[in-house]
Amino acid sequence: VTSKTVLITGCSSGFGYGCVNAFLEQGFRVVATLRDADTRKELFRDLLNRYESHLYVASLDVTDGEERKSIANLLETKFGGQLDCLINNAGFGLFGALEDTSEAQIREQIEINLMGTVFLTRQLLPFIRAAKGRIINMSSVLGYMALPLSSMYAASKFAIEGFSESLRYELSSHGVKVCIVEPGGFRTRFADNQRWGEDAFNQNSAYRTQTDNYSAFQNKQRTGAGTPPDAVIKACVHLATARCPPFRVRCGNDAQMAYFLQCLLPSRFLDFLLNTMFDRVFHGRRGHD
Ligand SMILES: NC(=O)c1ccc[n+]([C@@H]2O[C@H](COP(=O)([O-])OP(=O)(O)OC[C@H]3O[C@@H](n4cnc5c(N)ncnc54)[C@H](OP(=O)(O)O)[C@@H]3O)[C@@H](O)[C@H]2O)c1
Repeated sequence: VTSKTVLITGCSSGFGYGCVNAFLEQGFRVVATLRDADTRKELFRDLLNRYESHLYVASLDVTDGEERKSIANLLETKFGGQLDCLINNAGFGLFGALEDTSEAQIREQIEINLMGTVFLTRQLLPFIRAAKGRIINMSSVLGYMALPLSSMYAASKFAIEGFSESLRYELSSHGVKVCIVEPGGFRTRFADNQRWGEDAFNQNSAYRTQTDNYSAFQNKQRTGAGTPPDAVIKACVHLATARCPPFRVRCGNDAQMAYFLQCLLPSRFLDFLLNTMFDRVFHGRRGHD
């Protein structure tokens, strides 16, 4: 049991929601943040009943500067400025060919997945530094191996990796640890919340075949029960509590496999293999699609 405080973003579902429960069980005081918390407190009714004084639910759209400031004020007034761990989890997936994706959609993807993490971290760092605390950023298997039709999602997660790696060294002499979690595919609301480029399913799209096949491939992947999010939640708890946490934790067989292929195969061969696989999966005739 610990008297530490953790703040988690994107707690309405998936990894974020699971982490709220898991950190409460570990004795943490949890600041669970989500968009429009006032209208969605019901989500936490049981946990609030059970953990009362240890759980605080607050509104935070990570793209909203005023709300980020309010969260900092709340930490100051309610928790005496104590923040031992920040989990930047909020995010979503934008899929579809770059040409089929609008500028507004591209900005939104980067604004939520990357800038939300960057600005919230910057805002809360004084607290985390004072506590010699930890920052855990949610990356993805697409943070080190990109797939087609997900360029902006991959860009946002590759950026999270670079951001985290630099910050890890910048903050280590201040006693702050920065870690990343790299999940493969897990059963959360990610699939329901994902978005496609505005013109992805437009008949005139030059990428229509690829998009249809990619979408069918995703649907097929999701017909099974899927992998429950437990491993990712456990990884977050481990990174927050271990004496010497690793920088990266990969979760899921697919994430491990992608990593081992990258380590073991010469890059030109891996490139050939992936190109062949993507051609087959998307039934795209390269150069004609
Ligand atoms: N599930 C996977 O297979 C998988 C794999 C790799 C990485 N990830 C990453 O894991 C993280 C969590 O995703 P998940 O799988 O748990 O999916 P999820 O169930 O869809 O959860 C995503 C959460 O992010 C929140 N969110 C979205 N935009 C936000 C914003 N502007 N401000 C605050 N919160 C926002 C959503 O809140 P609302 O309810 O308000 O929309 C939701 O609570 C994401 O960063 C995702 O990229 C997931």
